[in-house]
Amino acid sequence: MSWKPNRSSHLTMQEQIIDWVKSRIDKGEWTVGTKLPPQRSLASQFNVNRSTVQLALDELKASGLLHTRAGSGVFVANNSWNILLNNNQPNWHRHIESGIHKPNYHTIQLINEYEQQEGIIRLGTGELSPDLLPTEQIKDSLSEIQLESRAIGYSSPLGNEKLRNVLCTYLKKRDIHTEPDNILIVSGALQALQLISFGLLEQGSVVFQEEPSYLNSIHPFQSSGMRVTSITKELKLKEILKEQKRNRQSLYYAVPTLHNPTGRNWTLEEKERLYDVCKELQIPIIEDDVYHELLFEETYPAMKSFDTSGQVLYLGSVSKTLSPGLRIGWVVAPTPVIHHLADIKMQTDYGSSAFSQEIVAHWISSGMYEEHVSKLRARLKERAAFTEAILEEQFKDTATWEKSEGGFYIWLRFNEPVVNKALFLNLINRKVLINPGYIYMPSDLHHIRLSYAYASLKDLKEALGILKELIS
Ligand SMILES: Cc1ncc(COP(=O)(O)O)c(C=O)c1O
Repeated sequence: MSWKPNRSSHLTMQEQIIDWVKSRIDKGEWTVGTKLPPQRSLASQFNVNRSTVQLALDELKASGLLHTRAGSGVFVANNSWNILLNNNQPNWHRHIESGIHKPNYHTIQLINEYEQQEGIIRLGTGELSPDLLPTEQIKDSLSEIQLESRAIGYSSPLGNEKLRNVLCTYLKKRDIHTEPDNILIVSGALQALQLISFGLLEQGSVVFQEEPSYLNSIHPFQSSGMRVTSITKELKLKEILKEQKRNRQSLYYAVPTLHNPTGRNWTLEEKERLYDVCKELQIPIIEDDVYHELLFEETYPAMKSFDTSGQVLYLGSVSKTLSPGLRIGWVVAPTPVIHHLADIKMQTDYGSSAFSQEIVAHWISSGMYEEHVSKLRARLKERAAFTEAILEEQFKDTATWEKSEGGFYIWLRFNEPVVNKALFLNLINRKVLINPGYIYMPSDLHHIRLSYAYASLKDLKEALGILKELIS
């Protein structure tokens, strides 16, 4: 043993001796039960007073790393490694538990994990199957995109100007008339929800939603301390909203077109009624419209199209139509709101991917986007019909569902409350992944959000067969 404390160190002799003993235990040089040399020989080796060694050892004993056996000497204690670990590492468990953002439900964590596994059939995924994504066309289109160096630098706070102009023209087809200054480009509609939550609501605000709800599966408002309140749109809407809101800030989150998870479409009357009531009570509405391009037949007007009071924060995205990996969505809202959300976004990520924005601007302005979406609708319609035929054949006696009007989902309702965590796990064992209804409405044990958009037709058939087998 040749180590000696360094007399010119900023640490005291005692501190250096403590660190040295700890490092010997940490490296496994002194294992549990090792007897330390007598204090006298340590003092002479370190060239310090015996009292300095004694103080250092006392401190190590007090922290539980060493212990004295009467008459035998000083030994490395039993739990020393644990103590070292705990002393040296931050208490990550405490950090994790006290973090502001809520963790995902365990079921959703498992879904995220198993979605990446080879060989698993994804029966609930809210994503287009790889063969429905225009991968080759996107590759080809890259060579058509004129890239100035500014275009791939940091994006401006509101997002690429070309894209915002293109969106103004595109949104006219949905009867939404807006200006580039009223559009913020975001990294997917999910980011828009986060920005609205941080930027427009004080803690304790009330966020109204319909249950089942996509919001229950992601927590953007719950994690910021908002009270998420589920209501039905039917009777006494005004009285209910008024009573729940009292004098708190609030907003209403709605997915009126191809609702996630139910696939339902609101009637025009329902939209007008909600709009009128919210206007009277000064409750802003988030209209999440990410699925509307996937309506098979009719298009239903967006609430934003008759919004004359700047009441509606309108959300769109290319995730469900072109590519979720581009991470491009948009918010349409009054200018001061857009500028405030853009300011927060700049503090969060310095703008969405400039490259992705160029791609989306090119796809929409060239007409490729609408051409692709039109073909996509036809293919999704075929998939929906195929899936409904299997349901008709195999689940007529055990479940009910509505014929899909578009998008990805069928909200399959089992007559019995069979959709519990055990079913979810049993299906994973059989290599089938579902989105159970309880992630959208915790008390629900009847539903599965069935997606016909991801799995191949062969896999859809096989997985539905396994589902039938497990519930009967
Ligand atoms: C209703 C709804 N809104 C928003 C999103 C988020 O989409 P994005 O990928 O644009 O963030 C999803 C995705 O599943 C969704 O279903």
